[in-house]
Amino acid sequence: MAKGKDIQLAARLLRAGQPVAIPTETVYGLAANALQDDAVLKIYEAKQRPKFNPLIVHFGNVVQMQRHIADIPETAALLAGAFWPGPLTLLLPKKSSISDLVTAGSSRVAVRIPNHPLTLELLDQLSFPLAAPSANRFGYISPTTADHVEKQLGARIPYILDGGPASIGVESTIVGFEGELPVVFRMGGISYEALTECVGEVEILKKSEKPETPGMLKSHYAPKTPLYVGDPEILLKEFQTEKVGILAFSKTRSGIPSDRQVVLSKSGDLNEAAKNLFAAMHYLDGLGLEVILAEPVPHKGIGMAINDRLERAKQENKVKD
Ligand code: TXA
Ligand code: MG
Repeated sequence: MAKGKDIQLAARLLRAGQPVAIPTETVYGLAANALQDDAVLKIYEAKQRPKFNPLIVHFGNVVQMQRHIADIPETAALLAGAFWPGPLTLLLPKKSSISDLVTAGSSRVAVRIPNHPLTLELLDQLSFPLAAPSANRFGYISPTTADHVEKQLGARIPYILDGGPASIGVESTIVGFEGELPVVFRMGGISYEALTECVGEVEILKKSEKPETPGMLKSHYAPKTPLYVGDPEILLKEFQTEKVGILAFSKTRSGIPSDRQVVLSKSGDLNEAAKNLFAAMHYLDGLGLEVILAEPVPHKGIGMAINDRLERAKQENKVKD
């Protein structure tokens, strides 16, 4: 059985050093024993991910995490207290128990406590944390269902723990620290507004300042079909083709067949839109279209993470190889 809800089987495979796909509230992860390099290597192989791209380490609780962290800024502790378990990843100085393979040589490790009942139970049964990137092929759209994982990686991994569709739908917000100042490396499931409400001043790393860690590679989250971002009414004039699909925020457009349009949230709810985003991209990418036209959403709350993912999925940002 390649897919199911068998936590014991998942635990046995992970203890044996095998990779297993796990559900989280953000997206599915491809997990392996974070303390065993041979196991971590299998993640990179299955995803075909370059080894200079570091991995997030998932813990079941803060006490487990503290064993592997050298120091925790006060603002980090505040954020952890407010948002864990949940869609927040913190970049913290690591101890030597976390290998360079996990952090790609960095002295900081990305850590988070995910908020999914199956995965929390799984972590509780294991004596080690789980390194897990999103369970997609490198550069492709992140998976929010077990089916998405199966299509991309099913033949390469022994088991997918099926926890249903992800409830948040975009990846975790990644926050590093300059002293006590929190710095957002990636917008995600915890909004900028929620962060500032918790700790006051928060900086957002500008694109130009972003380190060349490949997690920040522009080509991430991209469908195979060319995707353009902008006002669909305007873009439709530019792309005179029958085979056009629309990824809309809250309303459909006339003149395009309804099965080629996905509305992320009819009521204009950004949380609902985030939850539906990647499934919509997977769906439209499977239709064999010539272009996908994607409409930006209001740039606030989790909408900032949605717009970030649309930007990264854009045709002009794809790596050509
Ligand atoms: O919601 C999530 O964060 C999901 C679930 C599975 O937890 N995981 C996820 O992992 O999105 P991944 O590998 O697809 O994205 C993690 C990002 C990458 O951009 C990576 O470069 C960055 O985190 N990252 C990981 N460790 C880092 C480190 N030590 N320093 C800087 N960036 C790091
Ligand atoms: Mg990813």
